[in-house]
Amino acid sequence: MGIKGLARHNGARSDHTATGPRHEAAAEAWTHVALGTPIASGRDADVFALDEERVLRRNRSGRSTAVEASIVRHVTAYGFPAPLVYSADGPDLVMERLQGPTLLQSLAADETGVREAARILADLHTQLHTIPAIDLPGRPARPGDVVVHLDLHPANVILTEAHGPSVVDWVNARGGSAALDVAMTALIIAEVAADSDGEYSEAARAVLAAFLVDAGVDPLPALAEASRMRSSDPSLVIGERDLVPAAAELVRHFASTVRPD
Ligand SMILES: Nc1ncnc2c1ncn2[C@@H]1O[C@H](COP(=O)(O)OP(=O)(O)O)[C@@H](O)[C@H]1O
Ligand SMILES: [Mg+2]
Repeated sequence: MGIKGLARHNGARSDHTATGPRHEAAAEAWTHVALGTPIASGRDADVFALDEERVLRRNRSGRSTAVEASIVRHVTAYGFPAPLVYSADGPDLVMERLQGPTLLQSLAADETGVREAARILADLHTQLHTIPAIDLPGRPARPGDVVVHLDLHPANVILTEAHGPSVVDWVNARGGSAALDVAMTALIIAEVAADSDGEYSEAARAVLAAFLVDAGVDPLPALAEASRMRSSDPSLVIGERDLVPAAAELVRHFASTVRPD
């Protein structure tokens, strides 16, 4: 469903004959009115409730959601817990609305403990990495590659009653190695741990240590690549980028204590 379709769906007026930038801007503004206030916003996207069952996720950059839609359809076909995708249209993805707090919210509220959070994250990684990669535009799947999420941190896990912990935000997903995905998640958690002024620094250290034990995959061979990718991620703000080297050191430290050698 396009912007106009959505506006119609929400009972808004749409002007089929209007063309040109002024009218497009007006249509865009009208769609915002029709969609209302986002129920959640992340770094890259706003998420609007369409009704009790569906949300619309809009990439603020305007980037197409076609690739992420095909990956989510692929993993849900394998039974992986992620929202069902109903339609992808330009920057908009209409998908199943998941009910429940994020794992991060649940951790912050002390409803989920550190050990359990680490176990949930590790189990999701293990399950995801049983799914073979698919060909994507300009990126054919290599033999042995599996689906990797590359942003599988506690704010991208929703604890649903219906399907248990489910994963959202598939923007970075593609084919790769389990080690790269584990290294990336470890690095993201370690950035919080490395921020010594941060409120969650201690908790993040504990989640990191437990996650690396539970994941059962050595991230060290992929840590340099994960650090490079993380440092060049445009959604990181300056202070965060500065934390990446210290975060990588922490991952190296904890991973070496787990490593059987
Ligand atoms: N299918 C969904 N159902 C309910 N809430 C969702 C859904 N997808 C995302 N959200 C909420 O919106 C937030 C932002 O979406 P996300 O896809 O993670 O975008 P960003 O890339 O901006 O982080 C998530 O952390 C989650 O709270
Ligand atoms: Mg997110």
